[in-house]
Amino acid sequence: MILVTGGTGLVGSHLLFHLSEKEVKIRAIYRTKSSLERVQKVFNYYTNDSKYFDAIQWMQADITDVPSMIPAFKNVDIVYHCAAFISFNPKDYREMRKVNIHGSAIITNLAIDAKVKKLCYVSSIAAIGDPIEGEITNENCEWNKQADNSGYAITKYGGEIETWRASQEGIPVIIVNPGVILGGGNWESGSGKLFTQVYKGFKYYTEGVTGFVSVKDVVKTMISLTESDIQNERFILVSENLTFKDVLFQIADSLGTKRPTIHIKPWQTSLIWRISSLISLLTGRAPRLSKYSARSSHTISNYSSEKIKELLAFKFENIHTVIEEVGNQFKGDYQS
Ligand SMILES: NC(=O)c1ccc[n+]([C@@H]2O[C@H](COP(=O)([O-])OP(=O)(O)OC[C@H]3O[C@@H](n4cnc5c(N)ncnc54)[C@H](OP(=O)(O)O)[C@@H]3O)[C@@H](O)[C@H]2O)c1
Repeated sequence: MILVTGGTGLVGSHLLFHLSEKEVKIRAIYRTKSSLERVQKVFNYYTNDSKYFDAIQWMQADITDVPSMIPAFKNVDIVYHCAAFISFNPKDYREMRKVNIHGSAIITNLAIDAKVKKLCYVSSIAAIGDPIEGEITNENCEWNKQADNSGYAITKYGGEIETWRASQEGIPVIIVNPGVILGGGNWESGSGKLFTQVYKGFKYYTEGVTGFVSVKDVVKTMISLTESDIQNERFILVSENLTFKDVLFQIADSLGTKRPTIHIKPWQTSLIWRISSLISLLTGRAPRLSKYSARSSHTISNYSSEKIKELLAFKFENIHTVIEEVGNQFKGDYQS
């Protein structure tokens, strides 16, 4: 039996579809019934045949709540741990620690108890050490705890530490560190929100660089690595390192909308995040731009996926094709 956490999210829902094609027993956890509709929508991108979605055994559980997770681990031998809380709002730090570190510790403990054959954890490039401008970051780059890391990065790194603990207890572990993941399904958060904002006429762009990857490549590599004999390794998953300008322009082109026209400079974002956090303090609402999002929108971070390309002879989809496909899914969803 395979257990998937975070099955209602971007990565988890695409992962569930790819697993459901394999005719293996799959269990996935959810918190609220309404989020299952999102998963069904993602399955509909691939097929209209409901047998794939029906093959999944859904169980209500929260990764931070041990009693709800114990039944989810019954007869489980493979775990894909995709659940996480993603936020760059400083106010969410405690909750992120609870979900991303404490929740991962619970997954590790239960995986050890169940003596699972493999535990695959979805981390992030945010949990790789400080990228150095002009250099290419790979898996050997060490975490720098002195650096001004975002709460999200700290908690994803903390989740990795909990996952490595499983390997010390004899559970074979795979960790993947994807860049920004592009995929259809949820247009209100993550990269999906980029499509919504550009569609609504978002005007601004920056020239920072980061790694991008398609959700399909993320889940395909997760499955290949988990099914292989490879263990206790981590892998950066990045197809291309691109500027935010490039990506926003390509998204606008895919949607047939106007490209952003206003180039925002570092001093402007640094002013905007300060004003945003002041407004947030006064109103109690989440800041529109956090210090870390502002900084990463200008940082030039290049990542290498040579390790996985060589080991699995894996070819990543190029990002232009991915954006075209996700843009079409967006248009399909908005027109229906
Ligand atoms: N999206 C990206 O660009 C990106 C890039 C690099 C790495 N990652 C990593 O990839 C993984 C998946 O991200 P995603 O984009 O799929 O995120 P997402 O769409 O926000 O989904 C998060 C998932 O985690 C679940 N979850 C959150 N808190 C939970 C809890 N306490 N108990 C059980 N489930 C909980 C959510 O369930 P509900 O539906 O109930 O909220 C949802 O299924 C995460 O580990 C993330 O850090 C994402």
